Amino acid sequence: MIELRHLEKKYNRTTPLKDVNAVIKDGDVISVIGPSGTGKSTLIRCINLLEEPTGGQILLDGENITAPGYDVTMARRRMGMVFQSFNLFGHLTVIENIMQAQIDILKKSKQEAYDLGIKLLDRVGLAGRELQYPEQLSGGQKQRVAIARTLAMDPDVILLDEPTSALDPTMVGEVQAVIRDLAESGKTMMIVTHEMNFARAIANRVFFMDEGGIYEEGTPDEIFDNPKKENTRKFIQKLKIFETVIDSKQYDFISFGAELDSYLFRNDVMPGDKYRIRLAMEELVQQILLPKYEKPQISVRIEYSLKEHECQILVTYAGEKFDINDTENELSLTMLKNTSKDIEYSYNSDEEEPNCVEIWIRHQD
Ligand SMILES: Nc1ncnc2c1ncn2[C@@H]1O[C@H](COP(=O)(O)OP(=O)(O)OP(=O)(O)O)[C@@H](O)[C@H]1O
Ligand SMILES: [Mg+2]
Repeated sequence: MIELRHLEKKYNRTTPLKDVNAVIKDGDVISVIGPSGTGKSTLIRCINLLEEPTGGQILLDGENITAPGYDVTMARRRMGMVFQSFNLFGHLTVIENIMQAQIDILKKSKQEAYDLGIKLLDRVGLAGRELQYPEQLSGGQKQRVAIARTLAMDPDVILLDEPTSALDPTMVGEVQAVIRDLAESGKTMMIVTHEMNFARAIANRVFFMDEGGIYEEGTPDEIFDNPKKENTRKFIQKLKIFETVIDSKQYDFISFGAELDSYLFRNDVMPGDKYRIRLAMEELVQQILLPKYEKPQISVRIEYSLKEHECQILVTYAGEKFDINDTENELSLTMLKNTSKDIEYSYNSDEEEPNCVEIWIRHQD
């Protein structure tokens, strides 16, 4: 059990942790979420004493590990850390990476360290890779080695700081699967992540960090479906909705596409739906609307519901009345209709952007 009492971390210019209080029980899997810069990394680095807290206490099974004179290595041995950037030793083989701390710190024999290493490699799906060097592995494989290395120390708690954010999207799943397996095995874990579906699926508790502490905490359902406090609400709302304004013919559609992709990825949108959403945006905005207006002002709002796999796209635009059904670009209109379950055009002269197109994307399994 870990208890945080009035934990504070001050830097010269900022105080990311003002007053953090929490009890992490054995077997808890806690997702730590929140806007950038709110002290999520600082919190788990403090718990592991990689950063020295400037105030408050951390109790590990009742023992104050922040007390002067406490042996830091003792605490670290019981708390494993997994970093975004793997931190493997490039000059050591996979198995040597896993053996080293077991031998140096836990004083195990080489044979013992090796045997456990082989077992753990198997557990993370990397049997047979022991003699390879990190550079021969993909990012996802490196991170799984790093997880095996952490497990080799048999820590009471595992702290993970954005373990999948440095990975190519195709490799996120394999690392998440390994972490999920650990969570299900009853390991106590605290995991900082920006991947909300993962955060939700894996945890029994969620900490939302803001304003120098744990601003709101609850079960995944409470935090994601029913957040109580204002900042949490805003944060959750923003995750679920994609919004952008296109206000020039030179608009950067490449970065628009990248942002849309990352939104669709975060929300676990199914590949087929993803394709139709992208296609609909391209046909409607780029092919039909942009050529029509000299000075475009087009607002896009996309909301995807994971539960119903439904996607609603709302596009409003300024300028003269223009029903997209009257477009001369029949090809794009046909494509748009093929991706959609329903399209509605309306005009409201009271609005700054009086034209409005609502699209419901067709979902196919
Ligand atoms: N070593 C340091 N020295 C000075 N300031 C720091 C240091 N580490 C972090 N900070 C500051 O503390 C604040 C919290 O940083 P932290 O990295 O914990 O945020 P975070 O919630 O993990 O953000 P992100 O989601 O972007 O990873 C930031 O304002 C950051 O600039
Ligand atoms: Mg961070």
